[in-house]
Amino acid sequence: MTAPRVALIGPGTVSVVHLAAIGKLGADLAGVCDSSRDHRAFLDEVRPEVVHICTPHDRHVQIARDALERGVHVLLEKPVAHTIEQAELLVAAAKDHPSVKIGVCLQNRYNPTSRAAREILLSGELGRVIGASASVLWHRDAAYYDARPWRSVRERAGGGVLINQAIHTLDLVQWLVGDVVAATGHAGRYGGLPGDVEDTAHLVLDHAGGARSVFFATVTNAVDSPVTLEIVAERGTLLLRGDLTVAYADGRSEMIAELAPGGAGRSYWGASHELLIADFYRSLSDPEPFPIGPQEALAAQRLIDEFYRTTS
Ligand SMILES: NC(=O)c1ccc[n+]([C@@H]2O[C@H](COP(=O)([O-])OP(=O)(O)OC[C@H]3O[C@@H](n4cnc5c(N)ncnc54)[C@H](O)[C@@H]3O)[C@@H](O)[C@H]2O)c1
Repeated sequence: MTAPRVALIGPGTVSVVHLAAIGKLGADLAGVCDSSRDHRAFLDEVRPEVVHICTPHDRHVQIARDALERGVHVLLEKPVAHTIEQAELLVAAAKDHPSVKIGVCLQNRYNPTSRAAREILLSGELGRVIGASASVLWHRDAAYYDARPWRSVRERAGGGVLINQAIHTLDLVQWLVGDVVAATGHAGRYGGLPGDVEDTAHLVLDHAGGARSVFFATVTNAVDSPVTLEIVAERGTLLLRGDLTVAYADGRSEMIAELAPGGAGRSYWGASHELLIADFYRSLSDPEPFPIGPQEALAAQRLIDEFYRTTS
């Protein structure tokens, strides 16, 4: 792989893991753009092959579209956008520019444990999936929102714990168990945190094929506990909590280890940003679209959007 010439827009909290991966993968960092600069002028001046977009949710789509129009490949942080309408605009723009790659950072799909779980499920060895349960019990205090007020404002972030934190796990639940066809539950603000976004939500998810998942997410937990995802199938159970434990109905069990947390960033982001970014760079010479494009990433966002609409 020849490492591309890249640029980054949005040098905030998450950008550190992107910059670390850019350095480690040997990409040529041609420039960094913050909110004091016009991103269009920046792209015209720097002319990168790839742009990493790490801006707040309501600053994703316009920047990504401007990059696509310039033929610049886009690696976009999740979620696709702060609203489903904006996200769909990007899906359409991606279709208008089929030769320009776009990838969305749902990096947990690159965790070795997630990939192993998917392989086992697709192999059919465990039989039909009956159901799953997942929990995201994390801690965000007032300082987290005060430092970056957009995170607490629905009009800018699009929502709270579901679209900002738990989207990774909702994405994994659908990726592993199947499309969700109906979601019910409640979301609320219980933690006295700033802003107007939900800090806690519980959902019951019905999947195509008949499986049911229960899902709980909150940022009011005392600490950042490891995400837990248990998938129950006819002939065994998969338990993802850091490592993956597979318990077969015949008594066998095996363990697949998760990657150790990387040096840059927060441990709860997982260690897979670099794997996703490396795969995105590698995909630039493929004729195929990147596997997690805006259409693919929309699955979790559509579920969240429909849940917000039907429960508010
Ligand atoms: N994949 C993950 O695990 C993960 C983890 C954390 C954050 N994120 C995502 O990363 C994105 C950024 O989150 P964050 O916590 O780093 O936010 P942040 O507020 O810390 O950083 C955002 C940066 O964007 C800059 N910015 C804002 N508007 C801009 C504009 N128009 N042009 C150029 N720069 C602009 C700000 O100055 C800031 O430097 C969000 O989409 C968030 O959901 C993803």
